[in-house]
Amino acid sequence: MNQTGIQQEASMFEQLQPAKPDAILGLTEAFRNDSNPAKINLTVGVYKDDAGQTPVLETVKEAEKRILAEQKSKGYLPMTGSPEFGQTVQELLFGDGFESLSERARTTQTPGGTGALRVAGDFLHTMFPQATLWLSQPTWPNHPGIFAAAHVPVDTYPYFDADSNSLDFAGMISKLETLPAGDVVLLHGCCHNPTGVDPSQQQWEQIAAVLRDRGLLPLIDFAYQGFGDGVQEDAAGLRAVCAACDEVLICSSYSKNFSLYNDRIGALTLVARTAEQANTALGHVKLRVRTNYSNPPAHGAAIVKTILSDESLSSDWHGEVDAMRTRIHAMRGLFAATLADKGVEQDFSFMKEQRGMFSFSGLSPQQVETLREEKSIYIVGSGRVNVAGMTADNMELLCESIAGVLGA
Ligand SMILES: Cc1ncc(COP(=O)(O)O)c(C=O)c1O
Repeated sequence: MNQTGIQQEASMFEQLQPAKPDAILGLTEAFRNDSNPAKINLTVGVYKDDAGQTPVLETVKEAEKRILAEQKSKGYLPMTGSPEFGQTVQELLFGDGFESLSERARTTQTPGGTGALRVAGDFLHTMFPQATLWLSQPTWPNHPGIFAAAHVPVDTYPYFDADSNSLDFAGMISKLETLPAGDVVLLHGCCHNPTGVDPSQQQWEQIAAVLRDRGLLPLIDFAYQGFGDGVQEDAAGLRAVCAACDEVLICSSYSKNFSLYNDRIGALTLVARTAEQANTALGHVKLRVRTNYSNPPAHGAAIVKTILSDESLSSDWHGEVDAMRTRIHAMRGLFAATLADKGVEQDFSFMKEQRGMFSFSGLSPQQVETLREEKSIYIVGSGRVNVAGMTADNMELLCESIAGVLGA
């Protein structure tokens, strides 16, 4: 008998079956509990420096000092977040095209890039329930889950050619050419996760033309701006899409390029055909925010805005992003060279052509398991490696171990 006098038959929670753990975060947990001092983590997408640490950027520390000194209130932000942050986001996205696009673009500050994707999903489901969202095959493993939670039907288009470790451009385009008007196509703005393979600029322009001609809505997931070829260079594909298509959704994340993982800062930017249509669409986005988390956390946005609105901090931040990108790229080269040194016959030089934190190593699930069990080297089952988890210090052991499982 409970307090209301109603007979309780059984505990409600007792009936629950254990939830399936998140594949990647589950490995992070296992890594944390591994007592081997030589353990190596190439799983979760977090940048690490030469010392294997995920540092707080110097520009972030300086911005935080200023914010603490000047902060007068912790009152709620608007549902769409800080308007100054929104302007900063659009300047980063559109570069020189900012003036012409900002009039019909509206930005909503969100809790991380994941928050932006979820708000976009809720917006699509409520406003365009018939639309199917097309994901690259493969894609970031969280994409299907986020859009399933938002009740958005998803399907996939070809993207990666495993034999040549490169883009299956013909397969991708021929699939996009069959899609019905009003469907939505998710594209990774740069540094495709998990493959590290991006379209060339010419290919971006062809993709943009197909999206425009078929009346498809592009949804660009932009989580790694600055990690590919540079802050401006990495936005070139997105800008080609915005030049061709009147309507675009863009989900930005500042977790990686500002190293603000736990401050949860991202943005959803919508571009419409007219300013009036942009305002109407934004009204519906606001409703989705209101019933989800009401309004966003302030701190991460204040940091990004403080850095980018100060000439000297902004220039230092560009330097810090350049350093992260350069280190990852150097590790790509060192990994390929060290594997060759260890007698691995398979050619890993394709890794040097890929961009961002991730690449597919081609290791089988069995080889991945052996590496984890025998060497405490953690790689996700698909063989995706986070190159940013490699350092000059762990490279020898890593490559020797991989050579071992490859039978070199
Ligand atoms: C492709 C992609 N999109 C979005 C995100 C989300 O980033 P955030 O941590 O800002 O939610 C990630 C993070 O790993 C990602 O890899």
